[in-house]
Amino acid sequence: ATTLGASAAQTGRYFGTAVAANKLSDSAYTTILNREFNQVTPENEMKIDATEPQQGVFTYGNADRIVAHARSQGMKVRGHTLAWHSQQPGWMQNMSGSALRSAMLNHVTQVATHFRGQVAWWDVVNEAFADGGTGARRDSNLQRTGNDWIEAAFRAADAADPNAQLCYNDYNIDNWNDAKTQAVYRMVQDFKSRGVPIDCVGLQSHFTGGSNYPSNYRTTLSSFAALGVDVHITELDIRNAPSDAYRNVVNDCLAVARCKGITVWGIRDSDSWRSGESPLLFDGGGNKKAAYDAVLTALNNG
Ligand code: G3I
Repeated sequence: ATTLGASAAQTGRYFGTAVAANKLSDSAYTTILNREFNQVTPENEMKIDATEPQQGVFTYGNADRIVAHARSQGMKVRGHTLAWHSQQPGWMQNMSGSALRSAMLNHVTQVATHFRGQVAWWDVVNEAFADGGTGARRDSNLQRTGNDWIEAAFRAADAADPNAQLCYNDYNIDNWNDAKTQAVYRMVQDFKSRGVPIDCVGLQSHFTGGSNYPSNYRTTLSSFAALGVDVHITELDIRNAPSDAYRNVVNDCLAVARCKGITVWGIRDSDSWRSGESPLLFDGGGNKKAAYDAVLTALNNG
């Protein structure tokens, strides 16, 4: 096939991108989006500060615009993200304890209910583990409400949108030997053993270059999959977009049956949160880069 989405679909997978609502009026942007991708993740529009700017006041306009665009194009939507220590609105940043726990769960319930049936996968909880060698949870106002806040969020999401696939999403969980990877693995193992509703793990995969791309990435994907969850590559970008690293990521996903798809974190380099590093598959003019060809070829060889 001749596009990323259609090529991934040949093996039952998707190829998606992060989308910003304010770019849907840019026809150069939507031309590439509609041609190449069959999955979208709102880059910021479903985050807590966007959807509940005042406590109890929910605003869905930008997120709804992205969902409507995706539906009109037959693209699946990944919801990002229901519970996170970052991009909290001011009112939530200032909360703690049982009041924060209730507010977080209400947020999960309200947002998952609003989008019920329209979101294939939710990043229910994002980035809850610390970097470095400890394997500990990240300290945050949410973590300080009690270690069970993650499973509470998953149960609330499951109750609100029982047919969505519920994912835990994080970065720096790519290298199988890292303490952070092992800690997330043990959490998923524990959730599966106790019946906490978790369906998938998202590996953000923000790589800083070929050397940062771990040679055991495939082991990480297959190890999570062996726990009985799907795996998704959710925010892929690689500094300077080396073709070989992009090709390896695709081949590693294709080698693992439960790796359901790949989402790049933006379309053109100019759309990227790290635009200075040219990490994506299209240049600022919307031209296909060498990494694009490597990805397309790998998807078709799968
Ligand atoms: O919308 C406001 C705009 O009104 C204001 O004038 C401008 C001035 O700073 O800020 C705009 O908001 C920015 C927003 O992106 C939209 O462009 C925020 O400041 C900025 O912080 C925000 O950055 C986002 C970042 O998450 C925030 O944490 C990036 O776009 C987004 O790509 C990035 O995505 C995260 C994932 O959610 C989680 N994984 C890591 C990934 C990269 O950091």
